[in-house]
Amino acid sequence: MASFKIFYLFILLPFINLITVKAGLDDGLRSFYCSENLTTPNSAFQKNLRTLFSYLSSNATANKQYYNTTVAGRNHSDTVYGMFFCFGDVPRQLCIARVAEATKAILSGSYGNCSLSTDVYFQYEDFKIRYSNRSFFSTPDLTSDSVSCSYLDGSNQKN
Ligand SMILES: *[C@@H]1O[C@H](CO)[C@@H](O)[C@H](O)[C@H]1NC(C)=O
Ligand SMILES: *[C@@H]1O[C@H](CO)[C@@H](O)[C@H](O)[C@H]1NC(C)=O
Ligand SMILES: *[C@@H]1O[C@H](CO)[C@@H](O)[C@H](O)[C@H]1NC(C)=O
Ligand SMILES: *[C@@H]1O[C@H](CO)[C@@H](O)[C@H](O)[C@H]1NC(C)=O
Ligand SMILES: *[C@@H]1O[C@H](CO)[C@@H](O)[C@H](O)[C@H]1NC(C)=O
Ligand SMILES: *[C@@H]1O[C@H](CO)[C@@H](O)[C@H](O)[C@H]1NC(C)=O
Repeated sequence: MASFKIFYLFILLPFINLITVKAGLDDGLRSFYCSENLTTPNSAFQKNLRTLFSYLSSNATANKQYYNTTVAGRNHSDTVYGMFFCFGDVPRQLCIARVAEATKAILSGSYGNCSLSTDVYFQYEDFKIRYSNRSFFSTPDLTSDSVSCSYLDGSNQKN
């Protein structure tokens, strides 16, 4: 399972790099993960994801460097957990721009079908954003640069 995911990541990598430049996030993308199982575009999960993104963006605008929140679905499987984190030395205005750019890029399809995945993680050189249909907030991963590896391992654990 783990090796499949890593393989999946490698075949998508050139494509992702290409579209990242187009999305204006330049070459700051360090690692990412998008789970292979997809939700449908008009699902409750997608509606909740857009709400989540608006919460993350507005809280970045309100000066937060880190914010995590949950948008609860009527059906538990539609609940979205999400967070962003700008590293300590990122200027406030840049942090706001990063969250806005990344959420817009994900929703507009700049990262392929990523916005339809139930488990998504992007780490750029100065900030990270993550969301999932399961709670991951207890995982202390605010500072490490090598999170993507532990995250790939963690994604194989059952809830
Ligand atoms: C993806 O969906 C298949 C079929 O429903 C399921 O067997 C598999 O466990 C799912 N994978 C993940 C990572 O949830
Ligand atoms: C931050 O997000 C919460 C939801 O988690 C939302 O209710 C609140 O309005 C947001 N705060 C700001 C300042 O936008
Ligand atoms: C934010 O994360 C903390 C753990 O770090 C968790 O206890 C809390 O429930 C989360 N908040 C929301 C709104 O999900
Ligand atoms: C909740 O979602 C699951 C998975 O999509 C579905 O199988 C189930 O029927 C849903 N339950 C309700 C009450 O809608
Ligand atoms: C999250 O989504 C995956 C893939 O569709 C699914 O296998 C899993 O059961 C979902 N988890 C929850 C808590 O709904
Ligand atoms: C996105 O998902 C659809 C439906 O599952 C699939 O047909 C399409 O090839 C996928 N596109 C990419 C870029 O992965």
